[in-house]
Amino acid sequence: MNIQIINGPNLNLLGVREKSIYGSSDFESYLTDLKNHFTNITINYYQSNIEGEIINKLHEVGFSSDGIILNAGAYTHTSIAIADAIAAITTPVIEVHISNVYKREEFRHKSLLASNCKGVIAGFGMHSYRLALESLLLKY
Ligand code: DQA
Repeated sequence: MNIQIINGPNLNLLGVREKSIYGSSDFESYLTDLKNHFTNITINYYQSNIEGEIINKLHEVGFSSDGIILNAGAYTHTSIAIADAIAAITTPVIEVHISNVYKREEFRHKSLLASNCKGVIAGFGMHSYRLALESLLLKY
């Protein structure tokens, strides 16, 4: 199984940025733990602060990988282009957020991406990514 994690803008600063909201672990350390836990799954990681690069990555992996875990950061609330890219591909996308966006400012309550995603996981810190991965393993 091949899973792609995509992190959007400002998520390269995890561990440094607003620690009271996003925690003190950087993403690379968490990714190592995730890979050690799911040894039979290939987990690929990509981060970009640039909307078009996120779209290019969705196009690149969106017809071949088994699942995409996407934290589009603030683009979640603004990007019709990323929403269209998710609609265009065939790989299921799980939208994730580290923080519980519904406990925060009102502009974070609206996701333009969610309706094109298989599901949404928010508010479990870094473990939102693990829960998203588990959801991709569920058999219906
Ligand atoms: C975030 C929530 C977004 O509202 C915010 O812009 C982020 C991070 C999260 O993981 O909690 O950059 O996606």
